[in-house]
Amino acid sequence: MRSLLRLPLLGLLCILSVVTQSAFASVLAIDYGSDWIKASLMKPGVPFDVLLNKDSKRKIQSSVGWKRNDRLFGSDAFNIAGRFPTDSFSSIKYLQGVPYNSETVAFFTSISPATLSPTSRGTVSLTRADPSSTQYTPEELVAMQFAYVKDLAEALAGEKVTDVIVTVPPFYTQFEKDAVVDAIEISGLKTVALINDGTAVAVNYAMTRSFPTPEHHIIYDAGASSVRATVVTFLTVPNDPKVSSMSTSKDSTHITVGGVGFDRKVGGTELDRRLRDILVEDFWRKHRKDIRTDKRGMAKLWKEAGRVKTILSANAEAVATVESVAFDIDFKTKVSRADFEDACVDLKGKWVQPIFDALQNAGMTMGNITSVIMAGGSSRTPMVQAAIKAAIGEEKLAWNVNADEAAVLGAALHGASLSRQFKTKEMKVTDISPYDIQVSYAAESTTSKSPRTIHTVVFPAGSKVGSKKTLTFKRKEDFGVRLGYKGVPVAGFPTDLLEVEITGITEAIGNLTEWGAVDPVVKATVMLSESGFVSVQSAVAFGEIKDDTITGKLKGLFGAGSATSEGGEETESVGGQTESSSATSSSGAASPTQTPVKGPNSIELKLNVKFPSIPPMTVSEKRKSRDKLLAVDNEEKAKQRKEEARNLLESYLYRVRDLLEEGGEQTPFMKCSKEEERRRIRQKLEETFGWLHDKADEAETWQLVEKRSTLESLERPIVHRYKEIEEFPRALNNSQMWNWSTRLFLTEAKTNLEAEEASGAPSKYTHEDLAALEKTLVEHEIWLNENVEKQKGVKMNEDPVVESEEMRRRAKKLEEHLQRLVKRKVPLRRKTTTTTTTSTGTSGSPKESASGHDEL
Ligand SMILES: *[C@@H]1O[C@H](CO)[C@@H](O)[C@H](O)[C@H]1NC(C)=O
Ligand SMILES: *[C@@H]1O[C@H](CO)[C@@H](O)[C@H](O)[C@H]1NC(C)=O
Ligand SMILES: *[C@@H]1O[C@H](CO)[C@@H](O)[C@H](O)[C@H]1NC(C)=O
Ligand SMILES: *[C@@H]1O[C@H](CO)[C@@H](O)[C@H](O)[C@H]1NC(C)=O
Repeated sequence: MRSLLRLPLLGLLCILSVVTQSAFASVLAIDYGSDWIKASLMKPGVPFDVLLNKDSKRKIQSSVGWKRNDRLFGSDAFNIAGRFPTDSFSSIKYLQGVPYNSETVAFFTSISPATLSPTSRGTVSLTRADPSSTQYTPEELVAMQFAYVKDLAEALAGEKVTDVIVTVPPFYTQFEKDAVVDAIEISGLKTVALINDGTAVAVNYAMTRSFPTPEHHIIYDAGASSVRATVVTFLTVPNDPKVSSMSTSKDSTHITVGGVGFDRKVGGTELDRRLRDILVEDFWRKHRKDIRTDKRGMAKLWKEAGRVKTILSANAEAVATVESVAFDIDFKTKVSRADFEDACVDLKGKWVQPIFDALQNAGMTMGNITSVIMAGGSSRTPMVQAAIKAAIGEEKLAWNVNADEAAVLGAALHGASLSRQFKTKEMKVTDISPYDIQVSYAAESTTSKSPRTIHTVVFPAGSKVGSKKTLTFKRKEDFGVRLGYKGVPVAGFPTDLLEVEITGITEAIGNLTEWGAVDPVVKATVMLSESGFVSVQSAVAFGEIKDDTITGKLKGLFGAGSATSEGGEETESVGGQTESSSATSSSGAASPTQTPVKGPNSIELKLNVKFPSIPPMTVSEKRKSRDKLLAVDNEEKAKQRKEEARNLLESYLYRVRDLLEEGGEQTPFMKCSKEEERRRIRQKLEETFGWLHDKADEAETWQLVEKRSTLESLERPIVHRYKEIEEFPRALNNSQMWNWSTRLFLTEAKTNLEAEEASGAPSKYTHEDLAALEKTLVEHEIWLNENVEKQKGVKMNEDPVVESEEMRRRAKKLEEHLQRLVKRKVPLRRKTTTTTTTSTGTSGSPKESASGHDEL
């Protein structure tokens, strides 16, 4: 089944090619779920697939935990919850950017034994069960997991990976998105974009398909922490040869999100919770003890509930068994699917409602929808499937994407297309923001009464992301605007996002007026980014300055001074103040040739941004978190180094003990060592074994290394002896060979020289040359004879009098002297009295002997 689903990926590899080979030509995609992390790396040369973890699993449990001092990730971290319930952290996704006093936090405490406390930002932090009660924010715990994934990706890529795209649910508020982006930065990654998970599935769906006519589908994603439905319209627009004559341009698939619906309270985790509560009740019925007072017991039941839920997906009954769950009781109970479904009966409508909400937001009905594409782990739960079938019928349900992996693969593809380093299938993705976003400001008070606050929705729910709006204010003094959600986006969350003070207005307006502008205004550009963040991008004081020259008047007629507005930009007047000009000018448009213009049309104003509710982490807070995590990493590495040093020392001690005790008298070690040396080694060995046993736990790494090198320095002279005993004959052979070769060369060269002198032919060597070589040879011989004799008298367990290295060095000296002569060319200038025939004949002879030596 899985291999069938992945087949289309092969086609993808062919379409995917690198445009520019840059150092960072890879994009990491992370689908960070409440239960599971899926990741994928897009890198040329690496097959496009889901990233495998260290156990070759295709998904990683979203957990981080500690077993005493050892940090664990994935299922290792999840599984220790039964033993270390307050040191195992799962379902952290629930806590991203969430206010401490919120329903979400209350829910989290019902599923996790973790210890929570508020932070100065009003968010949550989790306390470890270590002696110093270290606190970690969700951003930090998620960053650890991102860094873990980054390491996996880097091991696969064989290089640094920095660019990442992360999936988020479409309902995430700016506070939650800030928490994701902050976690990315703390982990050492860089955000390419955030993508809504339903949209990512849509990208994956469109990858291998073509849509000649518009098709509307619903991506239904039932995850662990929530259920989302996204109405998406797909249309493949053929490459228009009239527009683009380039034969390379391809058809473009437009993926347009029309509406989203969601429920933040149902999902796989809620099912686990209901099932766990069945077990809690059964435990009470059977044993009359409240297991809820036991954190370990609750953690064990939580894990068992997840297992039983999976069994009940395929069976009518399951047996839950937990050995020694709490109070020394082995717990065993039978749960039927019917009991489980009874306990969840109130959720029935909630599984479906997001589909209807999404349709309504998109202005469509089920009749417009071609298929409902099922995704997410909980889409496999029979109860969820039954609810959907009952509501919309079976014929439209589609199981044509990989429920677990479609989102991460779609995100990777989208990330790759955004990074512009890859040539991917041409796709245009348009997403929306689900909440009304409004701007608020105090009305200009003409009277002394306290001013009225004006609210204007700038990006109504359903607005396209990646757009801007310019707001016009008739103001002469500094003022502030607030940006926020019109309604409470989710219970317990604030509505205010930012407060922006616009300053420098009085002076700017004054200047514009002085320069002749009529009724100058303040224009503020508000932006809704591709990843769905709102911000005030810029503010200017603007006023059309009348140019009195003829050219100026003509230009004015044709609208000079109005700059082209960027895509998606809209101009809007707010607060009932009318504005005649629709021009949006971002800079003084006055051209240098234009005569006497007194100043530019617009003057940049200062913005002072404040966060009135939950602020994103500041740069210094993020740096502090990053340092904190690096310290954990470094501590782990230091611990690893110490562990290695300890292992090395230990195995070295056993090896030395074997040298002393095994092999009788005949081992090289025994033959080459004196009794006194062995006694000292034995003594040191015993002392070190004792130290290792008593003190090594508290020892520093350098002490472990030092203990080893102390013993090594005692063993080294002995090892050196038997290495030398082995090496000596080889070195001697080498010395004798050069001795012999040099002697041979000298004999021949002398004979040639005499012959050449007799015939008057030119010679390669002079008598001095040969005498000098002979001198070197004799010196070498004398040294060799003397020392070889001495060495013969040395016992095996004594240090050698002559080192093989010294022997080779001296032989090398002789060799080099010999080679200098051998390599010498025949002199070009010949004696004029010589005939050609003789010179050729005689000079050939030393050449032959020379080439003979070269091969030695
Ligand atoms: C949805 O279906 C209705 C009824 O067939 C039709 O009038 C409408 O145009 C469709 N909407 C879209 C967006 O296709
Ligand atoms: C306003 O004009 C004065 C005088 O020309 C100049 O010094 C000042 O920088 C101007 N201020 C702004 C905001 O343009
Ligand atoms: C010395 O070298 C020769 C020639 O390479 C070889 O035949 C001989 O076995 C060597 N002797 C020793 C002791 O290495
Ligand atoms: C060096 O070579 C000469 C001539 O072959 C020989 O007589 C002499 O013994 C050699 N010396 C040594 C130390 O091998």
